[in-house]
Formats: sequence, structure tokens, C-alpha cells
Amino acid sequence: MKALFLYTLSLFSFCSASLADTLTIYSYRHYESDVLLFDKFTEQTGIEVEVVKSKAGALLERLKAEGDKTPADILITSDAGRLHQAREAGVLQPIRSPFLEQRVPANLRDTDGYWFGFTQRARVLVYAPDRVSEDELSTYEDLGTADWRGRLLVRSSANVYNQSLLSSLIDANGNQQALQWAKAVRKNMARPPQGSDRDQMRAVAAGLADVAIVNTYYLGLLANSDNQKDRAVAAQLKVFFPNQAARGTHVNVSGAGVVAGSDQVEAAQRFLEYLATDEAQSAFTGATYEYPVVSGIEWSPLLQQWGTFKADPISLALLGELNADAIRCFNQAGWE
Ligand SMILES: [Fe+2]
Repeated sequence: MKALFLYTLSLFSFCSASLADTLTIYSYRHYESDVLLFDKFTEQTGIEVEVVKSKAGALLERLKAEGDKTPADILITSDAGRLHQAREAGVLQPIRSPFLEQRVPANLRDTDGYWFGFTQRARVLVYAPDRVSEDELSTYEDLGTADWRGRLLVRSSANVYNQSLLSSLIDANGNQQALQWAKAVRKNMARPPQGSDRDQMRAVAAGLADVAIVNTYYLGLLANSDNQKDRAVAAQLKVFFPNQAARGTHVNVSGAGVVAGSDQVEAAQRFLEYLATDEAQSAFTGATYEYPVVSGIEWSPLLQQWGTFKADPISLALLGELNADAIRCFNQAGWE
């Protein structure tokens, strides 16, 4: 596969001038490391990359408003819920890429090629080991039991990460049970939902609660923060991967798709293919503490330290389709 890819890359270096001069990327990701990686793509292909960063909702609105006149070629955003919304809004176009179809597992990309995941994250339990022993933890479902009264922290249900997690519970257990779970977890929270995933971990370290539901890379960002206080927070916490005995831990992706209004589809496709190369996949695990989507890529030391785990193999496209059900369920449950 590697040989085939080198061939592809060199082929398109040769004719890149006719492919495109500049690709414009609308990105919800705010990592400096992404820009360094995109520079490597430019070195290899001669195609310049211009990144426009904004909030996920704002990018989608902008793409809708600009329509065919958009300067954007590629949309990068996190979570299948948002990628699905982009497809539904008509701002993406499908592509067929044997390379991407071979590299990115089917459950981590859109069934029709509208978007492809390029990094994975797990939504895990992070806990204070002085107040919780590992054998008390088991599943997301268990967090709804009375044992956890006043001991949990999770952010608002307006957040798409929680919506996708609830979509996975709807798929696994049905709407009724998912509603009961959302009600029970809301009741078990140490305070009304507020703040970011990182804020939940800071609060657990401060003793406000014992367990938080968060995405893995946020713990990596705290552990490697410039802020000494945040590094101390990370040092006090441990990671637990729930649901290992059955379906596996809920995972999601950062993903990208080619914008419907792009007239540089071929170059845009090359860019998406670049994100699935070994080079790009390894870079993500070290720089942003995300998991590769391509198998056989070595994880960075921190990810290795958290340990291997079984991921829920559900199709993320299906989670996107269940997003509206999840929002309705959260509203019914009174989870703000
Ligand atoms: Fe995030």
C-alpha cells in the first residue's frame, strides 16, 4: 500500500500545477500542528493551503450562505454529528477514493463518501483514584445507578460530543432506556452542566466530583499544557475505558469532506488522501493526542500509557442520523 501511495504522490507532484494553486480549508480545528502538517502537503505537492478557522456552527452557516460562490474546497470539523449536519445541509460533495476507502475503516467515514474521519478520540471516564477504585467503574450505563449520586460531571447536552454518545446509547439500548439513563446521569451530577471537558477534569481534581465523561485528547492537552496547574490536574487523574466487556468505548472522529461548491475537487481529494498517509496519521497521535484511524500506526507514548481498548464499532454515520433523537432525549431528560 505504501508503494502505491508513493506512486500516487509523485504522480500528482508532477501535475500539481494543473490541479490547483491553492486549496482553501474551513477548519474547526485550532491546532498549530495542523498547519505544520499542511505545510508538508504543500512541500510534497506544490499546492498551497489556506486555512480559515472558525467555530463549527459559524463555518456551516458560512458554507450555506456562500453556496456555489464559496472559496472553500474542504471542510474540517470534529464529530460525526457535525459532519452529518454538513452533509444534510448540502455543503459537501461525495468523492470516490480507493485509497481512502482502503485506509479509513468503513465505520469511521460516511457511507457515500461525503466525509472521512482522519483522527479518532474516545469519550472516556476520567476519575480521581484516591476516591474511586478502578473496579467500581464499568459502563456508561452504570453511571445512572444510585452509587454515583452527586459524584459525576459532564458538560452541557448542547455539546455534540454528548449528543453522539447518547446516540450510541440509543442505538445500543433503545430510546426509552437512553432517556432513563440521561435522566439518571443528570440527577447524579455534582452540579448543573457547565464548562468544557477540560473544566470537568479540573473540577474532579479539585474534589468537586469523582468521575467526569471527557474526550481523551483533552487529558493529553492538560498533561502537556504550558500551565503548571493544568499539568497538576492531569497528574491527579486516571483514564477508564468503559463498556470493554461488550460493545466497547464510544469513539468519534475529526473528519473532512470536499465542499460542494469547490471547483478543485481533484486537489481537494489529494489533500484528504494526505491526511490518511502514515506521515499524517503518526503526526496526529503525537501532536494532538488523538488516535490514528489507520491501523498499524504507532501511538505516541501518552496514548500507549493510557492503554489499548475495544472501540464501539458502530457506524458514525448512523450516530449522525440519530443526532436529532439524542437532542430530543436530552431535552426530555432535563439535561441542560
Ligand atoms: Fe474537542
